[in-house]
Amino acid sequence: MKAIENAIIISNEFISENICSLVLKCSHIAREARAGQFVEVYPDNGANLLSRPISICEINKIQGTIRLVFQIVGKGTELFSQLKAGDGLRVLGPCGNGYTLTENVEDTALLVGGGIGIPPLLETCKQLNCNKIAVLGYRTGSFLADEFREAGARVYIATDDGSLGFKGNVVELLKAEDISADIIYSCGPKVMLKALSQWAEEKSIKCRVSMEERMACGIGACVGCVVPIRENDKVVYKKVCKDGPVFDSREVCW
Ligand SMILES: Cc1cc2nc3c(=O)[nH]c(=O)nc-3n(C[C@H](O)[C@H](O)[C@H](O)COP(=O)(O)OP(=O)(O)OC[C@H]3O[C@@H](n4cnc5c(N)ncnc54)[C@H](O)[C@@H]3O)c2cc1C
Ligand code: FES
Repeated sequence: MKAIENAIIISNEFISENICSLVLKCSHIAREARAGQFVEVYPDNGANLLSRPISICEINKIQGTIRLVFQIVGKGTELFSQLKAGDGLRVLGPCGNGYTLTENVEDTALLVGGGIGIPPLLETCKQLNCNKIAVLGYRTGSFLADEFREAGARVYIATDDGSLGFKGNVVELLKAEDISADIIYSCGPKVMLKALSQWAEEKSIKCRVSMEERMACGIGACVGCVVPIRENDKVVYKKVCKDGPVFDSREVCW
């Protein structure tokens, strides 16, 4: 069950130019969390900013810690980047449904992440007990790629500017390398998820997409994050913060 915890910061460091890795001690959330879930982080600076949803990148149930990896894009994430070890931070979680990991040991799971959608796939990769391929897309450069390798994945990198790996997007890379799999776990911008979902359908591969929609309340109260989902031949609106963020790609009305 989700709860608000007063987390203590264990470490906070830059792992790329504007990307931070934040490790938090929050025993309840760490105990309950599953791969693909997220937390709502409260910027406590008196400016009454809304909480910010950030995916759980890693879970250490023994130490009672979680790791968040976030990009600085505005006031909230700027504030989080300035926190130091020993500081406190209010966090609500674990939120959302996360990925259901169902494959057998001989299956191949394909993890496809774009930009700041990559972090939740790292814990997913670590928990998967099968063959793993990670296809990671960036604008330029990379982050977390070595950690996917350490977690046992064969890693392919695509960059928009060609600074590393394949020049182009992740779906172009999948086609160029003729990659296949039994199941896809993905997270990233909607345009990437839509193209991936079409490719998966053509190849008849099951595909789970984690949608990082803009959110307001983050707890299912404001309908600020709804997406159209096909259910029993009808279109219904589901809340990404409560019913997602992970959906079956075939159910999403792109
Ligand atoms: C379920 C979920 C999981 C997420 N996980 C991560 C994560 O692991 N790491 C990470 O870096 N970010 C993640 N995000 C995005 C993150 O929540 C936003 O970047 C953050 O809230 C921005 O806060 P801010 O105060 O810094 O920026 P703001 O001042 O609120 O916004 C600055 C800029 O960021 C854009 N922005 C704000 N929210 C989003 C969003 N949800 N998606 C795309 N653009 C947005 C705004 O349009 C604006 O241009 C996630 C979002 C969701 C919904
Ligand atoms: S953000 Fe308010 S209902 Fe999802």
